[in-house]
Amino acid sequence: MGVVVKGVLVSQDQWTAVDRYITDLFVPPDPILDAALQSTAEAGMPQINVAPNQGQLLHILALSIQARSILEIGTLGGYSTIWIARALPPDGTLVTLEANPAHAEVARANIARAQLGDMVQVRVGPALETLPQLAAEGHDPFDLVFIDADKINTPAYFEWALKLARPGSLIITDNVVRDGAVIDTASDDPSVQGVQRFNSSLAAEPRVTATVIQTVGSKGYDGLAIALVKGA
Ligand code: SAH
Ligand code: DHB
Ligand code: MG
Repeated sequence: MGVVVKGVLVSQDQWTAVDRYITDLFVPPDPILDAALQSTAEAGMPQINVAPNQGQLLHILALSIQARSILEIGTLGGYSTIWIARALPPDGTLVTLEANPAHAEVARANIARAQLGDMVQVRVGPALETLPQLAAEGHDPFDLVFIDADKINTPAYFEWALKLARPGSLIITDNVVRDGAVIDTASDDPSVQGVQRFNSSLAAEPRVTATVIQTVGSKGYDGLAIALVKGA
């Protein structure tokens, strides 16, 4: 199914083809990232990882702020984890939070294959339990937080991200448009409602400068929120 815009058929097939064009140009072949996706699919896990060029965007953002410590909420098979961990300096660290032990196991294998096992810690448990633990441990502030877990709890994850960040940190949140359902004020989908609450509170949050960008591509139509913590 597609729609005609200025005489061009715009559809999922079109977005996928253009994403392939972009990926062929900008994303070098990478057997380790390919293997991470393959093992995720073979384990029967959902293929809801970021697209390659989105992983590359996260990597560029991490590089641009010279991130040394990164927090990810929602690991799946570690695909986005590998993209962002590769932006870290040799002494950098990444903590990634995953509720599903089977996902965490697949991710750990993929992270080890990428030779990132020393830098990356996969913590298993619902993030609303592991985030307070991280805070109680007095972990140094994270330079970058990537929020990409269950959408219902996205507002709560953002609150934790702010607590665990510092002025100058970036907080990036995936899936904040949801096929455009985010403008349906009558939506009864709890994930959509979570994202709506998140966007509203992000817009009203005085501690950040933030915006939302719509994304289309091989992973469909969604959006990314980018927030820079003020006061650096
Ligand atoms: N960031 C990954 C995709 C994550 S998919 C990538 O782009 O490659 C979302 C993940 O969040 C799933 O693995 C799911 O099991 C996990 N998740 C769902 N609810 C969670 C929760 N309450 N706490 C932590 N992780 C959760
Ligand atoms: C879903 C989750 C994601 O992180 C994503 O990128 C796409 C879809 C989901 O839960 O449906
Ligand atoms: Mg996502």
